[in-house]
Amino acid sequence: MPTLELRGVHLHYVEAGHGPDVVILLHAFPLHAGMWTEQVHALSNGHRVLAIDASGFGESTARPAGSTIADQAADVLALCDHLRIPSAAVVGLSMGGYVAFELLAARPEFLRALVLCDTRATADTAEAAAKREAFAGEALERGVGWVAEQLLPKLLGPHADLRLKNAVFAMIGQATPAAVADAQLAMAARRDATELLPSITCPTLVLVGSEDAITPPSDARAMAAAIPHARLHELHAAGHLSNLEARVGFNRALREFLDHLPKHPPKHGHGHGHDHGTAPVPV
Ligand code: MLT
Repeated sequence: MPTLELRGVHLHYVEAGHGPDVVILLHAFPLHAGMWTEQVHALSNGHRVLAIDASGFGESTARPAGSTIADQAADVLALCDHLRIPSAAVVGLSMGGYVAFELLAARPEFLRALVLCDTRATADTAEAAAKREAFAGEALERGVGWVAEQLLPKLLGPHADLRLKNAVFAMIGQATPAAVADAQLAMAARRDATELLPSITCPTLVLVGSEDAITPPSDARAMAAAIPHARLHELHAAGHLSNLEARVGFNRALREFLDHLPKHPPKHGHGHGHDHGTAPVPV
Protein backbone atom coordinates (compact mmCIF):
# COMPACT_ATOMS: atom_id res chain seq x y z
CA MET A 1 0.00 0.00 0.00
CA PRO A 2 1.27 3.48 -0.83
CA THR A 3 3.48 5.72 1.26
CA LEU A 4 4.27 9.32 0.28
CA GLU A 5 6.86 11.68 1.71
CA LEU A 6 4.97 14.85 2.58
CA ARG A 7 5.58 17.64 5.10
CA GLY A 8 8.57 15.81 6.59
CA VAL A 9 6.87 12.47 7.24
CA HIS A 10 6.30 9.27 5.31
CA LEU A 11 2.54 9.12 5.21
CA HIS A 12 1.06 5.67 4.64
CA TYR A 13 -2.48 5.02 3.49
CA VAL A 14 -4.68 2.17 2.33
CA GLU A 15 -6.59 2.80 -0.87
CA ALA A 16 -9.41 0.84 -2.53
CA GLY A 17 -12.11 1.50 -5.11
CA HIS A 18 -12.15 4.25 -7.66
CA GLY A 19 -14.26 7.08 -9.04
CA PRO A 20 -14.92 10.73 -8.24
CA ASP A 21 -16.59 10.08 -4.87
CA VAL A 22 -13.69 9.98 -2.42
CA VAL A 23 -14.08 8.93 1.21
CA ILE A 24 -11.28 9.62 3.72
CA LEU A 25 -11.23 7.50 6.88
CA LEU A 26 -9.41 8.95 9.92
CA HIS A 27 -8.69 6.53 12.75
CA ALA A 28 -8.98 6.65 16.54
CA PHE A 29 -6.17 6.88 19.10
CA PRO A 30 -3.96 4.85 19.50
CA LEU A 31 -4.89 2.66 16.53
CA HIS A 32 -4.14 2.88 12.82
CA ALA A 33 -5.81 2.67 9.42
CA GLY A 34 -6.24 -1.09 9.93
CA MET A 35 -9.22 -0.37 12.20
CA TRP A 36 -11.13 0.60 9.04
CA THR A 37 -10.57 -2.68 7.15
CA GLU A 38 -14.26 -3.64 7.20
CA GLN A 39 -15.36 -0.15 6.14
CA VAL A 40 -12.81 -0.06 3.31
CA HIS A 41 -14.36 -3.29 1.99
CA ALA A 42 -17.91 -2.10 2.52
CA LEU A 43 -17.40 1.21 0.71
CA SER A 44 -14.95 0.43 -2.07
CA ASN A 45 -17.67 -0.77 -4.40
CA GLY A 46 -18.90 2.68 -5.47
CA HIS A 47 -16.42 4.95 -3.70
CA ARG A 48 -12.69 5.61 -3.79
CA VAL A 49 -11.65 5.05 -0.17
CA LEU A 50 -8.47 6.20 1.53
CA ALA A 51 -7.73 5.16 5.13
CA ILE A 52 -4.74 7.16 6.37
CA ASP A 53 -2.27 6.25 9.14
CA ALA A 54 -1.78 9.43 11.23
CA SER A 55 1.88 10.38 11.58
CA GLY A 56 3.53 8.15 14.20
CA PHE A 57 0.86 5.41 13.87
CA GLY A 58 0.65 2.33 11.66
CA GLU A 59 3.26 2.65 8.94
CA SER A 60 3.43 6.47 8.93
CA THR A 61 6.56 7.93 10.45
CA ALA A 62 6.52 10.40 13.35
CA ARG A 63 7.71 14.00 13.45
CA PRO A 64 10.65 14.31 15.84
CA ALA A 65 8.76 16.82 17.99
CA GLY A 66 5.38 15.10 17.55
CA SER A 67 2.42 16.15 15.41
CA THR A 68 -0.36 18.46 16.49
CA ILE A 69 -3.93 17.68 15.48
CA ALA A 70 -3.57 20.56 12.99
CA ASP A 71 -0.46 18.81 11.57
CA GLN A 72 -2.51 15.68 11.06
CA ALA A 73 -5.13 17.68 9.15
CA ALA A 74 -2.44 19.41 7.08
CA ASP A 75 -1.02 15.96 6.24
CA VAL A 76 -4.43 14.86 4.96
CA LEU A 77 -4.75 17.97 2.80
CA ALA A 78 -1.17 17.60 1.48
CA LEU A 79 -1.88 13.98 0.56
CA CYS A 80 -5.13 14.90 -1.20
CA ASP A 81 -3.49 17.83 -3.00
CA HIS A 82 -0.79 15.45 -4.17
CA LEU A 83 -3.40 12.96 -5.39
CA ARG A 84 -5.46 15.79 -6.96
CA ILE A 85 -8.45 15.13 -4.75
CA PRO A 86 -10.20 18.50 -4.37
CA SER A 87 -12.90 17.35 -1.97
CA ALA A 88 -13.98 14.27 -0.08
CA ALA A 89 -16.41 12.86 2.41
CA VAL A 90 -14.43 12.76 5.66
CA VAL A 91 -15.17 10.11 8.27
CA GLY A 92 -13.37 10.63 11.59
CA LEU A 93 -13.71 8.44 14.66
CA SER A 94 -12.76 10.02 17.99
CA MET A 95 -9.23 11.44 17.41
CA GLY A 96 -10.09 11.20 13.70
CA GLY A 97 -13.04 13.49 14.43
CA TYR A 98 -10.71 16.04 16.06
CA VAL A 99 -8.68 15.96 12.83
CA ALA A 100 -11.88 16.43 10.81
CA PHE A 101 -12.62 19.61 12.80
CA GLU A 102 -9.16 20.93 11.91
CA LEU A 103 -9.88 20.18 8.24
CA LEU A 104 -13.09 22.13 8.61
CA ALA A 105 -11.22 25.09 10.09
CA ALA A 106 -8.43 24.97 7.49
CA ARG A 107 -10.37 24.26 4.29
CA PRO A 108 -14.15 23.91 4.72
CA GLU A 109 -14.70 23.54 0.95
CA PHE A 110 -12.68 20.31 1.04
CA LEU A 111 -15.49 18.60 2.94
CA ARG A 112 -18.11 17.22 0.61
CA ALA A 113 -19.66 15.53 3.61
CA LEU A 114 -18.74 14.85 7.21
CA VAL A 115 -19.25 11.80 9.40
CA LEU A 116 -18.40 12.35 13.05
CA CYS A 117 -18.17 9.06 14.92
CA ASP A 118 -17.77 8.70 18.69
CA THR A 119 -16.11 12.08 18.97
CA ARG A 120 -16.68 15.47 20.53
CA ALA A 121 -16.26 19.11 19.48
CA THR A 122 -15.31 20.46 22.88
CA ALA A 123 -11.70 20.90 24.01
CA ASP A 124 -10.22 19.17 27.05
CA THR A 125 -10.90 20.68 30.44
CA ALA A 126 -7.75 21.62 32.40
CA GLU A 127 -8.24 18.44 34.44
CA ALA A 128 -8.55 16.20 31.36
CA ALA A 129 -5.46 17.80 29.80
CA ALA A 130 -3.49 17.20 33.00
CA LYS A 131 -4.57 13.53 32.99
CA ARG A 132 -3.36 13.18 29.42
CA GLU A 133 0.03 14.64 30.36
CA ALA A 134 0.36 12.15 33.20
CA PHE A 135 -0.73 9.31 30.87
CA ALA A 136 1.86 10.39 28.29
CA GLY A 137 4.61 10.18 30.92
CA GLU A 138 3.47 6.76 32.10
CA ALA A 139 3.19 5.44 28.54
CA LEU A 140 6.85 6.35 27.96
CA GLU A 141 7.86 4.66 31.21
CA ARG A 142 5.66 1.55 31.14
CA GLY A 143 5.24 0.81 27.42
CA VAL A 144 2.32 -0.04 25.16
CA GLY A 145 1.30 -3.20 27.03
CA TRP A 146 0.34 -0.94 29.91
CA VAL A 147 -1.36 1.47 27.50
CA ALA A 148 -3.46 -1.36 26.04
CA GLU A 149 -4.49 -2.56 29.49
CA GLN A 150 -5.57 0.95 30.46
CA LEU A 151 -7.46 1.77 27.28
CA LEU A 152 -9.10 -1.48 26.24
CA PRO A 153 -11.92 -1.40 28.84
CA LYS A 154 -12.74 2.18 27.81
CA LEU A 155 -12.56 1.66 24.05
CA LEU A 156 -14.89 -1.34 23.94
CA GLY A 157 -18.32 -1.75 25.48
CA PRO A 158 -19.48 -4.54 27.80
CA HIS A 159 -20.78 -6.63 24.87
CA ALA A 160 -17.47 -6.83 22.98
CA ASP A 161 -16.41 -10.42 22.40
CA LEU A 162 -13.00 -11.89 23.17
CA ARG A 163 -11.95 -12.00 19.51
CA LEU A 164 -12.51 -8.24 19.16
CA LYS A 165 -10.84 -7.51 22.50
CA ASN A 166 -7.77 -9.45 21.37
CA ALA A 167 -7.74 -7.72 17.98
CA VAL A 168 -7.90 -4.23 19.53
CA PHE A 169 -5.33 -5.16 22.17
CA ALA A 170 -2.99 -6.29 19.38
CA MET A 171 -3.60 -3.11 17.36
CA ILE A 172 -2.77 -0.90 20.34
CA GLY A 173 0.36 -3.02 20.84
CA GLN A 174 1.56 -1.92 17.41
CA ALA A 175 1.78 1.73 18.54
CA THR A 176 5.02 3.10 19.98
CA PRO A 177 5.09 4.67 23.45
CA ALA A 178 6.39 7.88 21.84
CA ALA A 179 3.45 8.05 19.42
CA VAL A 180 1.02 7.44 22.29
CA ALA A 181 2.63 10.20 24.36
CA ASP A 182 2.79 12.67 21.45
CA ALA A 183 -0.84 12.07 20.50
CA GLN A 184 -2.00 12.53 24.10
CA LEU A 185 -0.26 15.90 24.24
CA ALA A 186 -1.65 16.83 20.81
CA MET A 187 -5.20 15.96 21.90
CA ALA A 188 -4.74 17.89 25.16
CA ALA A 189 -3.87 20.98 23.10
CA ARG A 190 -6.60 20.57 20.47
CA ARG A 191 -8.99 23.37 19.62
CA ASP A 192 -12.50 23.79 20.92
CA ALA A 193 -14.47 23.27 17.70
CA THR A 194 -17.86 24.07 19.22
CA GLU A 195 -18.09 27.43 17.52
CA LEU A 196 -17.51 25.80 14.13
CA LEU A 197 -20.56 23.54 14.38
CA PRO A 198 -23.27 26.03 13.30
CA SER A 199 -21.17 26.99 10.26
CA ILE A 200 -21.04 23.45 8.84
CA THR A 201 -22.80 23.50 5.49
CA CYS A 202 -21.98 20.02 4.15
CA PRO A 203 -24.25 17.02 4.81
CA THR A 204 -23.29 15.63 8.21
CA LEU A 205 -23.92 12.34 9.96
CA VAL A 206 -23.16 11.79 13.63
CA LEU A 207 -22.67 8.17 14.67
CA VAL A 208 -22.25 6.97 18.25
CA GLY A 209 -22.23 3.69 20.12
CA SER A 210 -25.02 3.54 22.70
CA GLU A 211 -22.44 2.40 25.30
CA ASP A 212 -19.62 4.74 24.35
CA ALA A 213 -17.97 5.56 27.70
CA ILE A 214 -15.47 8.09 26.31
CA THR A 215 -17.71 10.25 24.10
CA PRO A 216 -21.22 9.26 25.23
CA PRO A 217 -24.44 9.57 23.22
CA SER A 218 -25.36 12.74 25.16
CA ASP A 219 -22.29 14.47 23.64
CA ALA A 220 -23.20 13.18 20.19
CA ARG A 221 -26.76 14.48 20.54
CA ALA A 222 -25.55 17.93 21.59
CA MET A 223 -23.08 18.01 18.71
CA ALA A 224 -25.68 16.92 16.14
CA ALA A 225 -28.17 19.48 17.46
CA ALA A 226 -25.64 22.28 16.89
CA ILE A 227 -24.91 21.30 13.26
CA PRO A 228 -27.50 22.49 10.72
CA HIS A 229 -29.48 19.50 9.31
CA ALA A 230 -27.14 16.92 10.85
CA ARG A 231 -28.42 13.37 11.16
CA LEU A 232 -27.78 11.33 14.27
CA HIS A 233 -27.60 7.56 14.39
CA GLU A 234 -27.06 5.64 17.61
CA LEU A 235 -25.60 2.15 17.29
CA HIS A 236 -27.15 -0.27 19.73
CA ALA A 237 -24.93 -2.24 22.13
CA ALA A 238 -21.68 -0.70 20.90
CA GLY A 239 -18.95 1.09 22.80
CA HIS A 240 -16.49 3.78 21.66
CA LEU A 241 -15.05 1.85 18.68
CA SER A 242 -18.51 1.53 17.17
CA ASN A 243 -17.20 0.74 13.68
CA LEU A 244 -15.70 -2.45 15.11
CA GLU A 245 -18.35 -3.35 17.66
CA ALA A 246 -21.44 -2.62 15.55
CA ARG A 247 -19.81 -3.28 12.18
CA VAL A 248 -23.00 -4.19 10.31
CA GLY A 249 -25.11 -1.30 11.56
CA PHE A 250 -22.22 1.14 11.24
CA ASN A 251 -21.54 0.12 7.64
CA ARG A 252 -25.20 0.24 6.73
CA ALA A 253 -25.67 3.75 8.16
CA LEU A 254 -22.45 5.00 6.57
CA ARG A 255 -23.17 3.50 3.16
CA GLU A 256 -26.76 4.77 3.20
CA PHE A 257 -25.54 8.29 3.99
CA LEU A 258 -22.69 8.31 1.46
CA ASP A 259 -24.71 6.74 -1.34
CA HIS A 260 -27.34 9.46 -1.11
CA LEU A 261 -25.07 12.49 -1.09
CA PRO A 262 -25.75 15.06 -3.79
CA LYS A 263 -23.70 14.27 -6.87
CA HIS A 264 -20.68 16.39 -7.64
CA PRO A 265 -21.60 19.69 -9.30
CA PRO A 266 -20.89 19.56 -13.03
CA LYS A 267 -17.50 20.95 -13.97
CA HIS A 268 -17.93 24.36 -15.55
CA GLY A 269 -15.32 25.86 -17.59
CA HIS A 270 -13.42 26.03 -20.69
CA GLY A 271 -13.96 22.83 -22.50
CA HIS A 272 -11.91 20.50 -20.24
CA GLY A 273 -14.80 19.11 -18.24
CA HIS A 274 -17.00 16.34 -19.48
CA ASP A 275 -20.28 15.90 -17.71
CA HIS A 276 -21.17 12.28 -18.16
CA GLY A 277 -24.76 11.71 -19.05
CA THR A 278 -25.59 15.41 -19.42
CA ALA A 279 -26.65 16.57 -22.85
CA PRO A 280 -25.23 19.95 -23.94
CA VAL A 281 -27.80 22.70 -23.44
CA PRO A 282 -28.39 24.64 -26.64
CA VAL A 283 -27.99 28.39 -26.26
C1 MLT B 1 -9.80 8.02 20.59
O1 MLT B 1 -10.48 7.00 20.54
O2 MLT B 1 -9.31 8.52 19.57
C2 MLT B 1 -9.55 8.64 21.93
O3 MLT B 1 -10.37 8.03 22.88
C3 MLT B 1 -9.78 10.11 21.88
C4 MLT B 1 -9.52 10.78 23.18
O4 MLT B 1 -8.76 10.26 24.02
O5 MLT B 1 -10.05 11.88 23.37
